[in-house]
Amino acid sequence: MLVDIDFTDHHVFVFGGTTGINLGVAEAFARRGAALTVASRKPENVRAARDRLAGLGAAAHGVCADVRDFDAVGRAFAEAVDRFGPIDVLVSGAAGNFLCEAKDMSSNGFKVVIDIDLVGSFHVLRQAHAHLRKPGAAVINITAPQSYVPMRYQAHACAAKAGVDQLMRVLATEWGGEGIRVNSISPGPIEGTEGFDRLIAPTPADRAAAATAVPLRRFGQPEDIANLALFLASPFADYISGALIPCDGGGALESVKSSLEAAGRATVAHKPH
Ligand code: COA
Ligand code: NAP
Repeated sequence: MLVDIDFTDHHVFVFGGTTGINLGVAEAFARRGAALTVASRKPENVRAARDRLAGLGAAAHGVCADVRDFDAVGRAFAEAVDRFGPIDVLVSGAAGNFLCEAKDMSSNGFKVVIDIDLVGSFHVLRQAHAHLRKPGAAVINITAPQSYVPMRYQAHACAAKAGVDQLMRVLATEWGGEGIRVNSISPGPIEGTEGFDRLIAPTPADRAAAATAVPLRRFGQPEDIANLALFLASPFADYISGALIPCDGGGALESVKSSLEAAGRATVAHKPH
């Protein structure tokens, strides 16, 4: 039996929800009756996402805010709640990343990713708390395998996403008594997104290598992440909090293996004579 979930009369707020995976998540809630607020930096992204969600028949609102600006994040929530009421589902997925070896990374380059991914997530969760429905709200962080798999050229994102997931666990303990569940989704390689095109598969060779690292033998689609978000926001997940759930076709298992293999090769290469 296929069971779908209805989110009519729910306010879903997706921070960083104007493009890519997070927009796919917003669309899935919009198709199921929710009122949507999406927020990010660029006015053109915010407008396009709002129009797209409205085109699906949802009550949709867009706000421009940079997650690095604590007060702007607070204003975004106040504006959204004024319009659609308390937040039933918060998805926090704004992120930035670029590839650079740690020894070549500037202090500001490291800091900018920590500021967006980790400090920005804190700003979003901290400012949302007053506006979350209590009891009943579901908070979902979109993190990444960088949280638990060390990835070369991504020292900043690995440190930041690990921090986001530990923040998630702390808030699950602090907010559980108020009836708020807090979880993380860790997407695998999701085709057709900024992260996939620029970080995972910038060349055909990278794409081929990434494909062999997924046990289910396909790249993910935004709908794959959206389906897990729908589940985590639904009553089916009423007893799930503090969980970090990979949605990656089994890819995390292969990443750990190839990371260990790479470490093994490095050990041999640097063995003293
Ligand atoms: N390699 C090395 N350093 C880089 C870099 C790269 N490819 N891109 C940026 N940096 C460094 C800059 O040189 C700068 O450091 P400096 O002042 O010491 O020179 C620092 O990072 C900040 O760069 P800036 O361009 O001012 O930051 P920004 O706030 O405009 O942009 C980014 C933030 C760099 C994360 C940008 O990629 C972004 O906005 N990304 C959002 C989308 C995204 O990454 N999506 C994928 C999902 S994770
Ligand atoms: P994306 O399209 O670039 O999504 C990032 C979103 O965050 C955009 O809407 C962007 O909009 C917003 N954003 C960026 N910086 C911001 C800031 N400072 N303040 C507010 N909003 C900001 O990338 P994506 O690849 O779909 O990634 C989405 C999420 O999935 C990220 O958390 C990423 O780490 C995670 N993830 C992706 C993959 C993948 O395969 N793509 C794999 C693992 C994890 P603006 O530019 O308008 O601000």
